[in-house]
Amino acid sequence: MPNILSRKDLISIQDLSLDEIQFLIRGAEKLKKKPHPELLKDVILGSCFFEPSTRTRLSFEAAMFKHGGKSLGFSEPAQTSTKKGESLSDTMRMMAYYSDVIVIRHPHDGAARLAAENSEKPVINAGDGSNQHPTQALLDLFTIHECQKGCSDLKIALVGDLKYGRTVHSLALALSHFNPRLYFVCPDSLAMPDEILESLKEKRLKFSFHQNMEEVLPKLDILYMTRVQKERFSAYEYERVKDSYLLNAPMLCDVKENLKILHPLPRVNELHTDIDETQFAQYFPQAENGIYMRAALIAALTGREV
Ligand code: CP
Repeated sequence: MPNILSRKDLISIQDLSLDEIQFLIRGAEKLKKKPHPELLKDVILGSCFFEPSTRTRLSFEAAMFKHGGKSLGFSEPAQTSTKKGESLSDTMRMMAYYSDVIVIRHPHDGAARLAAENSEKPVINAGDGSNQHPTQALLDLFTIHECQKGCSDLKIALVGDLKYGRTVHSLALALSHFNPRLYFVCPDSLAMPDEILESLKEKRLKFSFHQNMEEVLPKLDILYMTRVQKERFSAYEYERVKDSYLLNAPMLCDVKENLKILHPLPRVNELHTDIDETQFAQYFPQAENGIYMRAALIAALTGREV
C-alpha cells in the first residue's frame, strides 16, 4: 500500500481511518522485527513538551536515534521564550523552521490543534490536557495486536479515571474500528465524557458501566488500568477518588488464560508490583512498543517507506 499519511497532522485518533491505523501497526511490527537504522536519516523532530513525560518524550527520541534521525526541543518550557510571554502560535512557527515534524504535549485541551494551525510541518499530539493522546492509542493497538493476535472482537475493560484520562479517550475511539465489547469501570464522578460515548453509540458499539472491577475481570481479554490524573483535580477531590481501584495479583485467580493487563503508565498505586512477573503483565512491553509505533508514524508523516 502506498504511504497514505504523508504530511498529515495527527491531533485526534479520529484523524486516522482503519486503513491508516492498520498501515501503522504493520509498520511498527516490521520495525520491531527488523531494524531500519537509516529510515529517518535527515529527519529532525521538534520536541515541545510543556508538561512532564517519561515514556512519550523519550520513546519519540529513541525512535529518532534508533532510525538515524535527530531530535531537538525542550521539556522545560520555563527555559524557552514562553517564559518571556511568547505565544504558543509563535513558538510553533519557529519550531516549523527548525524541524521536519513537531511533537507537542501541552496541559490545555486543544493546544495541539492550535499548534498544527500555526505550523507548516506535520504536528503530532503527544497529549493535550484531558482531551486525547493518539500515539498512545496507536501503540496500545499495536500491543493488543501482538498479544492477542489481532485487535478484533475482544472483551476490553477500561478502568479508573475515564473522565480526565486522555489515553482512554483516544483508545476507546480507536477500538471502535475493531468491534470490541467494552466495559467502563469507574466511579460516577470519573465517567467517560458524553461526546466519546455518543461517538461509540453512532458506531453501534456494545458497552456497559460498572463500579466494581471484580464483576468484569473473569470475562476479559484486555484489562486497561489507568491512574487517577492527580494534576487535573483539587487536592480534596483527588483524596476522595485516588484509591478507587487497586489491582493486585491475588485478584487475578479467576481470569482467562489469555488476559493481558495494559497501563499507559506512570502507575501510582492502582497496579501492584506483584503483578509485574505474572503472565498477565503487558505494560512494560507496551511502553517499549512506543519506539516502533512512533518511528513508523514519523516515517509515514515524512513520506518514508518502512
Ligand atoms: N503514557 C504516557 O503518556 O507516559 P508519559 O506521561 O511518561 O509520557
